[in-house]
Amino acid sequence: MICLSGCASSKPVESENATQSIVIGFSQSGTESSWRKRHTESIRTELEKEGYEVLYRNGYMNQDRQIQDIRSFIVYQVDAIVFTPLQEDGWEAILEEAAQAGIPVFVVDRHVSVNDSSLFLTHIGPSFKAEGNRAGLYVSNYFRGQSNTTINVLELTGLDNTSPTQLRSEGFRETIQRDLAQNNVTIQVQDAIGGDFIRRKGKEVIETYIKEGKMASIDVLFSHNDEMTIGALEALEETDIVPGKDLIIVTIDAQKEMIDNLKKGLVNCVVECNPEAGVFVKNAINRYLKRGADAIPKEIYVHETVFSSDMDFSQIPPRNY
Ligand code: AHR
Repeated sequence: MICLSGCASSKPVESENATQSIVIGFSQSGTESSWRKRHTESIRTELEKEGYEVLYRNGYMNQDRQIQDIRSFIVYQVDAIVFTPLQEDGWEAILEEAAQAGIPVFVVDRHVSVNDSSLFLTHIGPSFKAEGNRAGLYVSNYFRGQSNTTINVLELTGLDNTSPTQLRSEGFRETIQRDLAQNNVTIQVQDAIGGDFIRRKGKEVIETYIKEGKMASIDVLFSHNDEMTIGALEALEETDIVPGKDLIIVTIDAQKEMIDNLKKGLVNCVVECNPEAGVFVKNAINRYLKRGADAIPKEIYVHETVFSSDMDFSQIPPRNY
């Protein structure tokens, strides 16, 4: 194993055959969705293909467990830590431990909220705000042309205190509000209910919402991930509401099952959240090893797109998650 202590250095740190003995600790937050499983696979595969030794730990959606996993990497003196945080807060102390040990930290997918941004080298992930913007844009385009109408949205949010939940909400609201000024259509978020990014929870909260008699006034369901949308669709099966027609559904991730639902007309718009982070992580680590910390941008975005019911489905690339 090569010791990369002094990791914040801007000096190149790679020798000719350095990748052969470099150990990367990879702490994943959980396995709550097909998206997450593909995300894990993508990172592990790319790093292993590159010849890195990967120590993988699953946090099972438990922050304390993830902290222990990262501590075990520090004790092991890994050369770099790749870390996908369960939530934003609560990482300061463990990241300080990593910094003191001179181990660079690559934050992937969700973001961390820390006062000292030098505690991580870079953040690699989607623009969650742009995903929310795309969802909002679909809704405002869908209702464009109507006038003096109020469209009620039910937002099914992800786990609290996470960047995807906060930024998808923010991006969505920003776009529907911007559109408000231009058209005479009022699009408003009537209610926001939490489903933690989990299918079962998504189903439960939608069932409760239906039982409370609130679903009748909802025109659009904006769901923060496909797993919760699948749960919501199951709950809707018990009603007369026809998904995709009586209720416009916009969902995020683009898992294979949801693209199939789009083709069947059960949902109207699928905003992609790209889980293929592996190549970006591998490139960032390689670049760091060759050229040092100064060569790494603080934010690295993965590319993403959007799929909707009005498109030519043959253009949708095959999904592997
Ligand atoms: O952090 C990304 C989100 O987490 C994905 O949208 C979701 O499916 C996963 O659980």
